[in-house]
This record gives sequence, structure tokens and C-alpha cells, in this order.
Amino acid sequence: MAAKTDVTDRLKDATSLPLIVAPLFLNSVPELVLASVKEGIVGSIPAFGQYTTQGYDEWLTEIDSGIAQMKSANPAAKIAPYAANLIFNKNPRIDADLDVVIKHRVPIVMASAEASREQIEKIHAYGGIVLHDVANLDEAKRAIDAGADGLIAITAGGGGQGSTMNPFVFVNELRRIFDGPIALAGGLATGRDIAAAESIGADFAIMGTRFLATKESRADPAYKQMIVDSNASDIIYTSAFTAQPANFLKDSMTKEGFDAEKIRKDGTAAPRIVPPPGEKSKAWKHVWAAGQTVSHINDIPSVAELATRLKREYAAAKREIAVKLGLVPAHQAKPKPPKFG
Ligand SMILES: Cc1cc2nc3c(=O)[nH]c(=O)nc-3n(C[C@H](O)[C@H](O)[C@H](O)COP(=O)(O)O)c2cc1C
Repeated sequence: MAAKTDVTDRLKDATSLPLIVAPLFLNSVPELVLASVKEGIVGSIPAFGQYTTQGYDEWLTEIDSGIAQMKSANPAAKIAPYAANLIFNKNPRIDADLDVVIKHRVPIVMASAEASREQIEKIHAYGGIVLHDVANLDEAKRAIDAGADGLIAITAGGGGQGSTMNPFVFVNELRRIFDGPIALAGGLATGRDIAAAESIGADFAIMGTRFLATKESRADPAYKQMIVDSNASDIIYTSAFTAQPANFLKDSMTKEGFDAEKIRKDGTAAPRIVPPPGEKSKAWKHVWAAGQTVSHINDIPSVAELATRLKREYAAAKREIAVKLGLVPAHQAKPKPPKFG
């Protein structure tokens, strides 16, 4: 078994909450990353959020200088590290994007689509940490063999391209072969969910949909409102719009004139809806991705407001779990009243 527990400790020490904000294609922007790391939460930004490598370089410069300003304004504050999200396979931009990530010495790389050993070594060479996303055990074994420091377990119900893996099963499966950091993605949106992810053996929670509905995300206001107004049954897992099946909001399909109930019925067997010549795919920009956590997302807070809430919920959930498991008597688990005078 690969021994990577030191990486888990490093990441835990560097954060105020074991939480990573997911890379959100078209919706992650430096403002969202900076607001997240300021709260001690890992923020992330996908290279494909920019049309060119040069644009991505500019984003990373903006993030680096924002973090430098935060640090000089408040040297004692815990500013979390941030992550770049790169697609390593079948991506003509990968060499250039990776060079830019290396130039900026981005602390964490969230790797998608099979990073090679050579690519991972380049990130290790400047001290970067590689968290590789995996949707099944075989992918996990390949990521570990290639030298990934941690695994991102993609599980059912998450926004965008997901998997049908049950989180209990998948984290258990990964834990049998890997003792490094595991970040669980799919269906997490509350502080209690973070504690639950840790309880089943993960070290970090990843939240995507929850952070789409924040003031700092670049999602269209109507998209954010649709997240607030939707329930889990309004999420359709389909291969109609993307090469891999993904979770999208039903009402965003209807708004574009698609028969959402037919798409739901066809599920992962849905034929790909090919855009007319000259038009781009409707996915992401017009048909909006989101996960089942829309069910309990009822507001559009700032990242700072959300982080405060998540930290409070997480602390309360840990106390409650400790009592439930008989680890502490109920009266000792109560939060201490504030001191006066
Ligand atoms: C709008 C949207 C865009 C996404 N874009 C990316 C991406 O660019 N790269 C990536 O690795 N994952 C992407 N994801 C998936 C997230 O990384 C994450 O796995 C997922 O949001 C977790 O599930 P949750 O939405 O239930 O929190 C995206 C998800 C959404 C909702």
C-alpha cells in the first residue's frame, strides 16, 4: 500500500476545514478561488475555463497576487492552498497548460483523465501535490501507479460528469489499496456532509454544486436561482449532451426546448443531441450542470457566509457523532457558552 499519510497531514494543516471547492467549468473564476482560500478552504480553477493557455496564465497571476496581498494584509491568517484542474489525456493544450502551472508552482493539481508518471513527476519537482480524480478501482490503481499523491473519488449524484458509484462502497474500496488523502466528490453540501465523508474513510470533502450558488461564482443568476428552486428529482443523469454521462438540471433542458422527461427516460442510453452546423453544444453554457444537492441549497450566500455556516455545521456534527458513537457523554459535547466580562 502506498504510504502518503504525510500529504494528508500537510493538507489538513494548511486548511481550516477539510473542504475543496470543485473546479467548475465556465463558473470558477479567480474571485471564487480567492474567496475560498481566504476562508481556509481549498479553491480550484480548471484550465479549460479559459479559451487559451495565455488566459489561464493571467488567471493564475491574478490568484497568486491576490493571495500575496491577503498574506501581507494579515500574516497570521490561515490562507488555504489552491488547485489547478488539468485534463491530461486527449488534450492538445496539456503541455502548454502544464508549463504554466509549473511556472506558477500551483500548490495542488487536480488531475483528470490519466496523468502520466512523467507529468506527475514534473509537478512533484516543484513541490506540487497531485490529487487524481477516479471513477472506479482500475482508474485508481493507474493513478496510484503513476505517482498521484491523493485520489478524488467521484461518486453518484454529483454535478456534471459523474459516476454511478456509491460513496460508501467506493471509499471503502479505495481505502483497501491506498492510505493517502482521499477527497470525496458527489452529493456533499453541508458541514454535516463533510463530517460524514470523514466518517466513511475520506479525508476531504469536495463541493461543486453548493459553490455554484454563491455570490462569487460566475454562474448566470438564473442558473443560481434554478439550483435554489430545484429538488434532487429535477437532476437528470444523461448522455444526451456530453460524451460521458453527466447530471444536468431538468428545467434548463426545458428552457432550451428539449423534452426533459424523454431524456430522463433514456438516461445513459440517450442518443447524443448533435448541435446544428455552426452551433456549439448546448451543454454547460445553456443546459446547466448540477448535482442532487440542489435539494438542500436554498440560498445564494457569499463564500465567507457559506464558509462560516459550514464550519459551524461541521463542528456541531462532530459533537453529535461523538455522542452517538458513545465517545463522549452528551453533556461534555455541548459547545462552551461565550465568555463575558
Ligand atoms: C457546472 C459544473 C462544472 C464542472 N466542471 C468540472 C471541471 O471542469 N473539472 C472537473 O474535474 N470537474 C468538474 N465538475 C465536477 C466537480 O468537480 C465535482 O465532481 C462535482 O461538482 C461534485 O459533486 P457536487 O456537485 O454534488 O458537489 C463540474 C461540476 C459542475 C456542477
